[in-house]
Amino acid sequence: MSYQNPKVQEAADLLKSRFAELHNKPDILKAVELRALYAEIPTLPAEQRGTFGKELNSLRAELQQMVDEAGAAEEALPPIDITAPFDINVPADKRPQLLPAETGAKHPLMTELEQVLDIFYRMGFTALESREIDDDFHMFGSLNFPEGHPARDDYDTFMTTQANEDGKQFIAPAHTSTMQNRALQMHKGDLEQGEPIAVLLPGRVFRNEDVDARHEHTFYQFEGVYVDKGINAGNLLATFKTFLGEYYQQDIEIKSQPFYFPFTEPSFELALSCPFCQKKGCRICSYSGWIELLGMGMIHPNVLRAGGIDPEIYTGFAWGCGLERLVMMKYGIEDIRHFESGKLDFLRQFA
Ligand code: DAH
Repeated sequence: MSYQNPKVQEAADLLKSRFAELHNKPDILKAVELRALYAEIPTLPAEQRGTFGKELNSLRAELQQMVDEAGAAEEALPPIDITAPFDINVPADKRPQLLPAETGAKHPLMTELEQVLDIFYRMGFTALESREIDDDFHMFGSLNFPEGHPARDDYDTFMTTQANEDGKQFIAPAHTSTMQNRALQMHKGDLEQGEPIAVLLPGRVFRNEDVDARHEHTFYQFEGVYVDKGINAGNLLATFKTFLGEYYQQDIEIKSQPFYFPFTEPSFELALSCPFCQKKGCRICSYSGWIELLGMGMIHPNVLRAGGIDPEIYTGFAWGCGLERLVMMKYGIEDIRHFESGKLDFLRQFA
């Protein structure tokens, strides 16, 4: 379609070429050039207004039609079966693409986990990610939970119906402690070289939970494991306090109290001064100024032994900390369910 008025024709050419590039096609209808032309109408001599206005309306209708057609073409695209295998030799730009990368962003938990990792890297730790399916030995046996021990009931999670060669079912891990044995085995040689074992074990964990604002069935933990000669609980508390200070960028107070875990002796539960209100009392800390955050302790001799380390020579500490709790206190997030909800209005605040 061509237009008599040169200004309208010029705008038509410009907008049509821009349309081809636009990712969100309806945006063309909001183009400033189009709005500017409409704004000109009242300034024109009365006898020109009618024809100018009509031409502009036809241009708008033409653009609207292009938008509608583009929408229809998009709807007509065949659905992509994301489970279908594709040929690995196909160049990356020809493979099925679900969403253009520029509309995506990192999930806030991953951004925060990167910060956590960064702090521990600076303290000399390495990292090893936990698995999303594991076995009875790593979930319980290697962590000093004897068969049939009641403490196993505290870690109620999901299991496969299919069994391992040893007749035991596979387990969706309920904690990142499943990785302790692997980390110890992998790095025990470092001890002989006079190097400590310092490993961070982040990962996704699962529990058979009644879900509410503070409990999720799927969440993240990061486990810390440190072993060397002469390590004591003071080293553990100092390390974790230093981490908290770095993560929240403020001085955090900590309180420990005795607790029980089969894989540590002694075991503690650690509370920290509320980073959100600096102990003044707020809804995040239930107006107490303190928040119980995590379990920790000195690694049990049986766990060291199962990892191939002599507990007569070496001692070590470990902790397992929930990532969501930590992040919730940083930003004042009131409901843990937001993280897995996929709600864009929540996620976009962190993008
Ligand atoms: N695995 C424990 C849990 O999820 C947390 C924990 C406690 C991990 C003490 C540790 C530890 O490494 O030493 O409840």
